[in-house]
Amino acid sequence: MDLFRKDVYKGLESQPKTLPSKYFYDAVGDQLFREIMRLPEYYLPVAELEILKTNSGKIAEYLLAKKNAFEILELGAGDGSKTLVFLQQLDESGLDFFYRPLDISGNILKKNHQFISASLPDIAMEGIEGDFFSTLGKLDRIKANRLTLFMGSNIGNFKPKEAVDFLSFVAAQSITGDLFLIAFDLKKDPEVILNAYQDERGVTAKFNLNLLKRINHELGADFDLSSFQHYPSYNPITGVTKSFLISKKTQTVHFPDGRSFDFKAYEAIHTEVSCKYDEEKIKYIADAAGINKIDWWKDSKGYYSLVLFEKK
Ligand code: AVJ
Repeated sequence: MDLFRKDVYKGLESQPKTLPSKYFYDAVGDQLFREIMRLPEYYLPVAELEILKTNSGKIAEYLLAKKNAFEILELGAGDGSKTLVFLQQLDESGLDFFYRPLDISGNILKKNHQFISASLPDIAMEGIEGDFFSTLGKLDRIKANRLTLFMGSNIGNFKPKEAVDFLSFVAAQSITGDLFLIAFDLKKDPEVILNAYQDERGVTAKFNLNLLKRINHELGADFDLSSFQHYPSYNPITGVTKSFLISKKTQTVHFPDGRSFDFKAYEAIHTEVSCKYDEEKIKYIADAAGINKIDWWKDSKGYYSLVLFEKK
């Protein structure tokens, strides 16, 4: 059985039901996420871009100080739109680097290549298609030092304990002197956070529901999309945003191999976590993963931060 089907069955058998958010990103999901990034409520990309515009020069200085060639390994690179400004600055600073965007979506890597090479035709780059854990472990090193980029608040998709495991794993593939630039979305007015996940135009709802559509298309299920609704929540104590797809009625969903899953009225499928951080939580996961904070920056609203770490 392929991994997607296995993960879906496992999630729908669980109590409460879950589905992994990494499966949001088929071609339609990629496109919907790109739309999300342009929504007025989804403040994250604007904040990130402001930080990069203001501080990429300073970050470049930290890399140049190593006096080594770098590979820039970007985890969950997406279409490259969050990275271009930074790469432009590195290029101008005269750093010798090779850009390696890694993403689960081959489709989005093509867009990444087109987008980056349109502005920076001469930089060395090659995309890597794959899942973080399975791909990273096998990845060769092509330059003396590595800067691992984890932008877009992608780390938020892990629960803090999983974030520690993930960063420990990434740090284990690194050598002393390697750097990590990681974006953390910060705790803020809960209304602002919640609205980022329930936009007025309903793009985020569509993005979540697209997961059921994908399961119908790729696995032959018969989810009736109109009988599920998107519902996000934010817990200001834990800083965790959760997204759910809620069955509006009692119903059964079938798969072609005879498997079926019963839903009670208003039963939820948990689809995503998006963790919001504060300084203590960032310090906790960095310490636990064995990486040292060397500098950090926030946007002018204090919504979002980029943190530069070094492998101990
Ligand atoms: C790409 C994981 C950072 O959690 O904010 C956007 C995905 N989900 N709207 C996030 C997402 C709903 C996003 N990340």
